[in-house]
Amino acid sequence: MIYSRIVGTGSYLPEKIVTNADLAQRLDTSDEWIRSRTGIRQRHIAESTQSSSDLALPASIQAIAAAGIDASDIDLIILATSTPDYVFPSTACLLQAKLGIHGCPAFDLQAVCSGFVYALSVADKFIGSGQHKCALVVGTEVFSRILDWSDRGTAVLFGDGAGAVVLRADKRPGILASALHADGSYADILSVPGNVCGGRITGSAFLQMNGQAVFKFAVKVLDEVARETAAQCGMTPEDIDWLIPHQANLRILESTAKKLGLGPEKLIVTVDRHGNTSAASVPLALDLAVRDGRIRPGHKVMLQGVGGGFTWGAALVEM
Ligand code: ACO
Repeated sequence: MIYSRIVGTGSYLPEKIVTNADLAQRLDTSDEWIRSRTGIRQRHIAESTQSSSDLALPASIQAIAAAGIDASDIDLIILATSTPDYVFPSTACLLQAKLGIHGCPAFDLQAVCSGFVYALSVADKFIGSGQHKCALVVGTEVFSRILDWSDRGTAVLFGDGAGAVVLRADKRPGILASALHADGSYADILSVPGNVCGGRITGSAFLQMNGQAVFKFAVKVLDEVARETAAQCGMTPEDIDWLIPHQANLRILESTAKKLGLGPEKLIVTVDRHGNTSAASVPLALDLAVRDGRIRPGHKVMLQGVGGGFTWGAALVEM
């Protein structure tokens, strides 16, 4: 049996930080409102010249260095994003070129905020098939580009960033279990309902959200999918060392940990500093906790995504 293990992590955040106080200068909002409803204090925002592949590049270089491999050892690239550089080619292909790699398959995966967990699970299956040995799995976003900066209901929630892992074939399982789900009947509670047609945008190019519906949905499915994933390998939530849910909102994270019976000390939180970085949020949080020494080899980490589609999923990983 061929398994896959995470052997290196990396991340990148744009330099520019926008605080709640900065937003309060141009929107009818306040630091107090944003902190108390979401836990967010600040977010990083990309320069207008920086695209998703630009953010993905340093995150990938860091993950490749942490794995102790050469970029040319990568034989599969799966990149999760909802804010691609172009309609086509894929951001994965653009990243591949920036990394100087040629020939290996590279493709984008669109599952919004569940994108990284989806991509990790797909890469695990590719490696398990025996056809690929070393995958680069990336979540990268410039959500600042799809926000209506005059809408206080959504503009305060998101940020930009990228995270990456190197997943390598191994005799010992690293991805212990994963579960993916979607229900397209909830498409309208979180969407960017626009398209490019005849040289123009049809529909809207801005993110729209029913915040309360998203909140209820996220808390319900994050609990269910963590239990489902743990059960696949005969485990329960108590066996988890660290919980990394998609970093949407501190109240969603804390409710999820509580429902699973996990103390706050097992929850990795970055939403306070990063905001919601969609597909980048889980690998960013993973990389930070690996680098600050909390997550160590042998630890069992539950990674969870939930987002537009609606999509949701989880992967239980032994580091
Ligand atoms: N500052 C001040 N007031 C605001 C702001 C703001 N930034 N945004 C909304 N308000 C106002 C509203 O206009 C409303 O005013 P009104 O009562 O006069 O009409 C009031 O605050 C309450 O609005 P609600 O939408 O009911 O506020 P709620 O308590 O639901 O909080 C929030 C909104 C934070 C968006 C919450 O619903 C939430 O966290 N939902 C989850 C959404 C989420 O995390 N989305 C991320 C993307 S989805 C994902 O990643 C899975």
